[in-house]
Amino acid sequence: MKFTTNLAALALAGLASAQYDQASKPFQLVLQSKDKTVNGQKLAACHVGAAIESLCLTETASPSKPDPIKPVAFRFNTSSNAGGEPPAWGILTYDLPAQPVIPSSVEFWIDPIANFALPLLYPGSGSGSQSLVFDEKDLLAVQGYVDYSVNPPKAGNTTEFYRWYACPTYYAGYQYPALTWALGEGKPETPGCAKVDVKRVFV
Ligand SMILES: *[C@@H]1O[C@H](CO)[C@@H](O)[C@H](O)[C@H]1NC(C)=O
Ligand SMILES: *[C@@H]1O[C@H](CO)[C@@H](O)[C@H](O)[C@H]1NC(C)=O
Repeated sequence: MKFTTNLAALALAGLASAQYDQASKPFQLVLQSKDKTVNGQKLAACHVGAAIESLCLTETASPSKPDPIKPVAFRFNTSSNAGGEPPAWGILTYDLPAQPVIPSSVEFWIDPIANFALPLLYPGSGSGSQSLVFDEKDLLAVQGYVDYSVNPPKAGNTTEFYRWYACPTYYAGYQYPALTWALGEGKPETPGCAKVDVKRVFV
């Protein structure tokens, strides 16, 4: 219920003025997987549009990324507007190197015909930024509090979900091996996806 309480507090504070103004120390995101080809790989920011990047894998080659690239440092921004103790949830942020730097945050981009979302870094932060949490093992999760698998759907049990997959992706002409989020319990429909956990390792 902490999640809903914090959301309510944030709504009262005014979503438009919600600012994710407290940044964590920088960290890298490392994939953990039973699939040896992706296990241990780190995430980078790969260009998919004007100041838009996908969370691509550093090592796996693809048409848009034939060579390995360097991992980037992310931060976890939380909101001081939420009041009370520091909230567990926040947004994943990245400073896009530019003159001046462009603070960016992850939103889930959805193509309605696909059964997965593509986390993309967009400039700024706001109501479109995806709420995320890191659990006690430093694994990245999405919190949910509605069980949609029962009739009627039942709210109240806040649970962490870990529906991350490393997949071959396509976005706006760019093809990268990148992090995706399965919408629902199934595996993303694109062949070649590997189930992963996403671990934060401070640099
Ligand atoms: C994250 O927090 C830092 C520190 O307040 C801020 O400079 C940065 O703009 C924030 N990033 C985003 C995307 O809001
Ligand atoms: C809450 O959800 C989790 C994950 O679905 C489940 O394991 C747990 O039993 C649920 N707890 C209650 C009280 O329903």
